[in-house]
Amino acid sequence: MIVNLDGRFCTAEQACLPLQDSALLFGDSLFETIKVQNNKVLRIEAHLDRLALSASLLDFPRNHDEVRTNLLQTAERCPWPLARLRLTLTRGICNGLAVPPAQHARTIITAVSCSDPDDTQRKAGATCVFAPNRRVNPLSHLPQMKRGNYADCLYAARYAQSRGAREALFRTDEGHILEGATSNLFLIRDKTLITPAAGELVLAGVMRRQVLQAADTLGFTVRQQPIDMQTLFQADEAFLTNAIIEIMPIARLENFPLKRGPLALELLQAIRNGAAS
Ligand SMILES: Cc1ncc(COP(=O)(O)O)c(C=O)c1O
Repeated sequence: MIVNLDGRFCTAEQACLPLQDSALLFGDSLFETIKVQNNKVLRIEAHLDRLALSASLLDFPRNHDEVRTNLLQTAERCPWPLARLRLTLTRGICNGLAVPPAQHARTIITAVSCSDPDDTQRKAGATCVFAPNRRVNPLSHLPQMKRGNYADCLYAARYAQSRGAREALFRTDEGHILEGATSNLFLIRDKTLITPAAGELVLAGVMRRQVLQAADTLGFTVRQQPIDMQTLFQADEAFLTNAIIEIMPIARLENFPLKRGPLALELLQAIRNGAAS
């Protein structure tokens, strides 16, 4: 593992945080999970934009340029063809519930090797289940941010694993399907790309943003609208997106097979070839 703590490289053993760090005590942190390919940080500006938005909404101290430099320097050191960067911002040592002074803030970056799903896995597609829990308070703006307080997503992701599935999909009480525990959801029907609107209960994923940009370039009609079960089962194709897996077709939801087609993987190829990079 490569570790960059506040701009300085160290070993994982040397890196330590105080016990009063606000991230440890309250899950009070922001994070990004970022893909690196051959030392290039993919979609860096989209990650930094989302971080900036969350930081401004939560009054989180951060230095955009410093974070970018630290990410680039960490990526340069990666000896692997593919790597996963985890960027974490914490407010640092806190005293009770008071907001710590900005100079206590910490920037933590780790890099580890990762791998892409192979062609066979993408062709087989993902099995999904419904998450047993809800995506927190529908009136809150907090699910829009990638916060350390990730309990809802972690619970759902682990539930999916326990059922032998790749992903758990969150639903609303009205039966609208929102997104996965760690991914956004897309459908394709008649060359129209459909995804639930971001904000409130759906995270504005960076891969989601890239898919929407590429879809425009490739002549898809795009609709951001609620997705119910009927819409899902009538779709020609359905797929998940996140910054690491990029695009993964869905093959089954609970015990039901979903329709399959070539467009999701064609979209992935087009993005990799430079559509909307
Ligand atoms: C709840 C949730 N939705 C969507 C995503 C996809 O976001 P991104 O494309 O930025 O990886 C994630 C990523 O972890 C997530 O946790």
